[in-house]
Amino acid sequence: MKQIVINGGKTLSGTINISGAKNSAVAIIPAAVLCDEQTTIYNVPNISDRDALIDILHLLNCETSLNADLLKIDSSKLENKKIPLELSKKMRASYYFMGALLSRFKHVEMYFPGGCNIGKRPIDIHIKGFEALGAKVKIKGDFFTIDAEELKGTNITLDFASVGATINIMLAAVKAQGKTVIRNAAREAEIVNIATFLNNMGAKISGAGTSVIRIEGVDYLHRAMIEVIPDRIEAGTYIILGAMIGDNLKIDNIITEHIDALLSKLKEMNVKFIADDTSVTISKCDNIKATNLKTAVYPGFVTDLGQPMSVLLTQANGVSMFEETIWENRMGHVKYLNKMGANIKNGNTNSITIGPTPLSGCEVEATDLRGGAAMVLAGLIADGTTTITSIEHILRGYDSIITKLKNVGADIKIEEIKEN
Ligand code: EPZ
Repeated sequence: MKQIVINGGKTLSGTINISGAKNSAVAIIPAAVLCDEQTTIYNVPNISDRDALIDILHLLNCETSLNADLLKIDSSKLENKKIPLELSKKMRASYYFMGALLSRFKHVEMYFPGGCNIGKRPIDIHIKGFEALGAKVKIKGDFFTIDAEELKGTNITLDFASVGATINIMLAAVKAQGKTVIRNAAREAEIVNIATFLNNMGAKISGAGTSVIRIEGVDYLHRAMIEVIPDRIEAGTYIILGAMIGDNLKIDNIITEHIDALLSKLKEMNVKFIADDTSVTISKCDNIKATNLKTAVYPGFVTDLGQPMSVLLTQANGVSMFEETIWENRMGHVKYLNKMGANIKNGNTNSITIGPTPLSGCEVEATDLRGGAAMVLAGLIADGTTTITSIEHILRGYDSIITKLKNVGADIKIEEIKEN
């Protein structure tokens, strides 16, 4: 068992290069099995979710080669196998194999996916999409069997603009007969990245990035390549950090447009930064204004930055109100921020923060991926030493977080927890 140890209060300067987006890569890797030949994926982040997905590819008889951030996948000898419980549960994104294998084999056997405990996380919208395309879904406890004699294009209006359901239905529909139209589709940048990958293979998808996606089914998907877009959540996490302890901290290799909502909010809070199309340079702000913040689907303020942002709110002057609208359970980290000295009152999906409050290092836990990132930010701005346990959550989604932070001046390390 490992923990992160941080000696806080150091000023950070230099450059942090942002890796490929977790939430894009974790869909692009399963999407590769739709290809009847080989695919090449650039800018794949080094995160544990990547490795768990590659384990599933190997189970399905794909050959892979990974060299730094370059992943090659040969799915020409793909075999359909039941994805066992331990692989299905390792992460949320295992469910993209439902859409992809349904498309290739018309038969899928796997378990309900895992992932962060941030809400109930049902997959009913995915299932309704598969059924609309002609599949039959049997659920026994946590085990899913999905079968189709054939998949036929149809019109599907999603109950909610779900990121996962939009991608999964897109995967299932690319080889369906005829035309599928997904209405009320999610518009996240990651969806455009995945659609581009599929189109590079010969799929006929238009409208990705808007709320109406049109897919004309094709029979064969050929060799293709794709570059994973920069991770807007990783970028946002470090930008928020820069507003608290940066000294010309440059967050580089980003698509700035993807984080417009964050940058608008920071401006409103009096935080100063210099932004161009691919980077943001930011320094500590001494007079941060309190704000009201509500998460929303893209292009609104992204839920995945709510927890990192809650650390900034502890340093803002006055009362900040925060409302989480996507997940029911994203406040687990608040008790640890309060333990460090914050003044936050919270319900399940909202909080009131009175600031500014100095934070002091202590023992805390990473309750989930972004809650864990919030603990890292809190530890870096706090006086004294913070130790964070359950760090596997953080390593699922932040590429080389220790090295990247050390390189800009943080005193942070991972160490083995000593057993008594
Ligand atoms: C993706 O989750 C991301 N995960 C999440 O990031 C992110 O928070 C979320 O999109 C929203 O942006 C991955 O890409 C792997 P949704 P996803 O389907 O696809 C409800 C992180 O920190 N819903 O858009 O699972 C659901 O319960 C992670 O990186 C249904 O009710 O999110 C939620 O309230 C955490 N039925 C809302 O929709 C369904 O069938 C949004 O979920 C599907 C979803």
